[in-house]
Formats: sequence, C-alpha cells, structure tokens
Amino acid sequence: MVSSPMVVIASLVGCPLHGNVSDCETVVMELRRATTDDWAASRDIRLRALSQDPNAFCSSLESESGFDEQRWRNRLGHGITVLAWEGSDPVGTVTGKPDPHEEGGREIVAMWVAPAHRGTGLADSLIASVVDWAATEGAHEVALWVAEDNSRARSLYERVGFAATGETDAMRPGVDQLRMRLSLR
Ligand SMILES: CC(C)(COP(=O)(O)OP(=O)(O)OC[C@H]1O[C@@H](n2cnc3c(N)ncnc32)[C@H](O)[C@@H]1OP(=O)(O)O)[C@@H](O)C(=O)NCCC(=O)NCCS
Repeated sequence: MVSSPMVVIASLVGCPLHGNVSDCETVVMELRRATTDDWAASRDIRLRALSQDPNAFCSSLESESGFDEQRWRNRLGHGITVLAWEGSDPVGTVTGKPDPHEEGGREIVAMWVAPAHRGTGLADSLIASVVDWAATEGAHEVALWVAEDNSRARSLYERVGFAATGETDAMRPGVDQLRMRLSLR
C-alpha cells in the first residue's frame, strides 16, 4: 500500500518561528498518514523519542525496543499515525486514536518532534493533522495527557487551543500527568 501525501509544508530549520527568514535554509517537509508498510520508520522514530525524551512518555525504550514487526504493524492498523518526512528521514510523529476515557472522543498520543525541527511550526501541523482527522470522524473532542513538568509541550497544546480539564493521574514517581482537551463542537 502506498501512503498518499496529506499536507506539504515549508519549514525553516534552525530558525525561531519569528526569525529572520533570509538567514534561514528552507526545507520542505511532507506530512503523511502512515500505513502499515511504514512500520520500520514509525518504530525508528518512536524508539528515538523514547530514548531522547524518556520523561515525556508513560512507556519506555526498554519495553518497546522488544516489540516485533507484527506489533509495530498492528499499531498502525487503527487510528491515525502521521509521520513528518524530511526527504527519507522521519523527523516528527503523532498518533490519534479513539479515547478510552471519553465515548466519541479521540486522543493524541506519542507526539514527538526531532530536536532540530522544534520551534519551526512542525508540531502545530502534526496536531492539526490529527484534529482534522478527528473532525472528519465526527468526534466531539480531542484530548491528551501531558506530564505536569513538560512545560514546552503544555505551552504548545495551550497555544493550539487545548485547555486543562483539571484531571490528573500518576505518571512516574513524584510527577503527575494532566489531561487537556480541545472541543470540536
Ligand atoms: C513537545 C514538542 C512536540 C513541542 O514541539 P516544539 O516544536 O518544540 O514546540 P514549540 O517550539 O512551538 O514550543 C512550544 C512552546 O514552548 C515554548 N518553549 C520553547 N522552549 C522551551 C523550553 N525550553 N522550556 C519551556 N518552554 C519552551 C515555546 O516558546 C512555545 O510557547 P509559546 O507558544 O507560548 O511561544 C517537542 O518539544 C517535543 O517533541 N518534545 C519531546 C517530546 C514531548 O514532550 N512530547 C509531548 C508528549 S505529551
């Protein structure tokens, strides 16, 4: 199965969002909905995320590095996973799936942008692709959990319209995760 382009965005590598464009190299990134045939790229970027930012996720490199090909393929078989590509390199990812906590809602999980592509607007485009998918599916909201000490992610989610619900849950010793939601109605 061939994945079809969803969105193509131009982004600026190594530049702040409001930086001087003339000083920046322009790089075209393509955001595509992953198919099961993208399982190796999806695995590689997920393991990179767990390795580089272990405190951002409830899962761990130790648990997921042992998954076999079928397990990675199964992950891509439901919901939506979007991969951002710079040429043949995956540089960002996000997954949307039915929300186990909210009937008719969708949940964002496994959000990660490679360090060189942070601050470029790529994260906003990844979230927008899942929100668009959720709206197309008729969902009434999109929710997520974020570590209370992950101020960068919390700022991003607030900027694109998510608000804390007040719900918390234990994440790791001494750190809770917070639930945030975006209403689609
Ligand atoms: C979370 C993540 C996807 C955000 O993408 P990003 O491209 O870094 O996001 P931005 O650069 O747009 O920054 C988001 C906000 O954090 C702020 N910020 C930047 N650097 C920061 C820092 N070191 N500490 C705190 N906030 C910071 C930005 O100013 C921006 O806030 P603003 O909208 O009020 O200006 C990315 O940083 C990442 O992959 N982090 C590791 C994995 C992770 O945390 N995933 C989320 C799990 S819930």
